[in-house]
Amino acid sequence: MKKLLILTLAAGAALTSCVNPNQQFANEVKSPNGKISFICEFTSDGLFYNVQDEGDGIVYNSRLGFVLADNDTVAYFDRIKEVHSSHDETWETAWGESREVRDNYNQMIVEMRQKGGDGLLVNLEVRVFDDGFAYRYVFPSQGDSLVIMDELTEFKLDWPAEAWAMNNHDVYYEDYYRRKAIEELDTVHTPVTVEAIWHDHVPHANVPDVKIKAPSDKYLAIHEANLTDYPKMQLIGTDSVTMKVRLVPWSDGVAAYVVTPFATPWRTMIIGDTPGDLVTSYMMLNLNEPCAIEDASWCKPMKYIGVWWEMHLGNGTWYASPTHGANTAHVKEYIDFAAEHGIPGVLVEGWNVGWEGDWPKNDHFDFTKPYPDFDIKEITDYAAEKGVTLIGHHETAAWTKNYENQLDTAFKFYTDHGVHNVKTGYVNLLMDGKEDHSSQYGVRHYRKVIETAAANHVNIDNHEPVMPTGLQRTWPNLMTQEGVRGQEHCAWDPDGGNPPEHTVLMPFTRGLAGPMDYTFGTFNYDNPVYPFARVRTTLAKELALYVIIYSPMQMASDTPANYAAHPDAFQFIKDVPVDWEKTLVPDAVIGDYVVTVRQDRNSSDWYLGAATDEDARELDVKLDFLEPDAEYTAQIYADAPDADWEKNPTAYTVSEQTVKSTDTLPLKLAAGGGTAIRFIKK
Ligand code: NOJ
Repeated sequence: MKKLLILTLAAGAALTSCVNPNQQFANEVKSPNGKISFICEFTSDGLFYNVQDEGDGIVYNSRLGFVLADNDTVAYFDRIKEVHSSHDETWETAWGESREVRDNYNQMIVEMRQKGGDGLLVNLEVRVFDDGFAYRYVFPSQGDSLVIMDELTEFKLDWPAEAWAMNNHDVYYEDYYRRKAIEELDTVHTPVTVEAIWHDHVPHANVPDVKIKAPSDKYLAIHEANLTDYPKMQLIGTDSVTMKVRLVPWSDGVAAYVVTPFATPWRTMIIGDTPGDLVTSYMMLNLNEPCAIEDASWCKPMKYIGVWWEMHLGNGTWYASPTHGANTAHVKEYIDFAAEHGIPGVLVEGWNVGWEGDWPKNDHFDFTKPYPDFDIKEITDYAAEKGVTLIGHHETAAWTKNYENQLDTAFKFYTDHGVHNVKTGYVNLLMDGKEDHSSQYGVRHYRKVIETAAANHVNIDNHEPVMPTGLQRTWPNLMTQEGVRGQEHCAWDPDGGNPPEHTVLMPFTRGLAGPMDYTFGTFNYDNPVYPFARVRTTLAKELALYVIIYSPMQMASDTPANYAAHPDAFQFIKDVPVDWEKTLVPDAVIGDYVVTVRQDRNSSDWYLGAATDEDARELDVKLDFLEPDAEYTAQIYADAPDADWEKNPTAYTVSEQTVKSTDTLPLKLAAGGGTAIRFIKK
């Protein structure tokens, strides 16, 4: 019924609005496997698109277009030309969750001219993959700069559903994801994850009196790819099925200043049958440009410890004081521990002048001036002798002009001392007292830092970022980012710390945007300075998170003394890789539990992480991901029978057994608990 309606509309539109009578317009492009179709409709009300999955409606009559300055609406178009092509290529990631990524899509480019206004030329580029679709607007060169005030772009579903999303109140993306009806999404950041769980035929959300065959369970993730010189996309739920794009504006209200030729970021939707399908989609990476660094062998994944957690717990200061964390002797203790346990990196924060008083107000952080008790030469020489590298820190307090003025010298200062990894930070609600982190202003700044860092062979771990969109394919020195309510909230947040469900939600929400510097690894749950807060997991779950939450830079955030108290559990942190051959998510219910398995990129070992929310649960995991006909030693780090995140978090067991691919392994997860397993091929 619905298909018929679309075809009729499309045929009518083709007759009335085609400018070239000789050009045939298919208006449609399908995925390589033929299942997903993206259909354009040119109507007297404007330009719309529909998306179907095996004939089932996914997106219905969703508007496309823009509003430019002076209320110039770019929504009505004459078609000039439609060009179809296909692409199928497999490329190798510099590092990541999968060594090989297949980029396979069919593309349709519709060249259009705005009806009325200035007759703007706009191309709609659409790519349809087997796991979703993406489109972007491309403005061919036409001499002028454009002032974009708003996008008319919509994602309007065929059926009411609920979505996991984070509202846009927190500029750092450090809020919780909540599941809400679409009309309750009152301006949310993407990724937005839609869960459509169906039981029967449902009334069509948009066409009165029509019942549609509801799709089987669907998981959709709406986000964007390749955000390079444009504001971040947010979504506003305007009714039970419609999400309209909002662009984060500059302080003057303009969304984007654009010089043609120009391409917007891709607007993307992953379409999956299971939550795991969202995690193992690499569409976002495929929509970014190939690696721009000729030899990226210096962009190396690594684990690190740091003079960090103790400060968040209130046991030391960033500024110079009798309890200053970044003092030479103390940093050397961390270096000793890292060297002893084969951890390559040591992060040190609070080493440079600028942390005095209410430091986010300080627009004069100095990135080449260490505090007197931090002898950078002595420290870096000592680290080099021990085969350890320092991870530098640039807290800018979001005074980006101050940072940009020092950028080259700041990186050079570090690289002269052999430091090639820098954590950056932007703690302040506005950049330079004025602009939003997620505005075009912010996006341009972050991009400048990544490219300048690349020129200096520096890898970046960016805190308080704009939400990632896959740029690490092009710039693999952008190793990891925050933009997540990380473990630090468990140290001091008045709300008591991230609840147990938080980390089993992350892979299906924020995690879809790229690596997260979440910084787990807690082995000691005491918090004397801020007793109202704590890490709400079991110790075994902390281990499982190294497999579940992906980052090529993973911190073991607790202190050396706390790790020394549990050497058998620390062994897992020492063993677990940070670079993967392959990733699978065999079982998950978003926000309840997750089982993730990954194969090491540098050996035949597999690793498993399973974690649950506040409910204890038993899971059976099929080991069919293991190589057939091979035997593996499974080293199992599990919750002890009496473990419980609240009452007994440090009760765990370590055991070994022989397994093979035909086995099913029963797992028992405590409340707030987890299991971590290393499978070593015999
Ligand atoms: C917030 C960052 O997320 C945290 O990791 C860092 O320690 C502080 N800012 C200070 O820069």
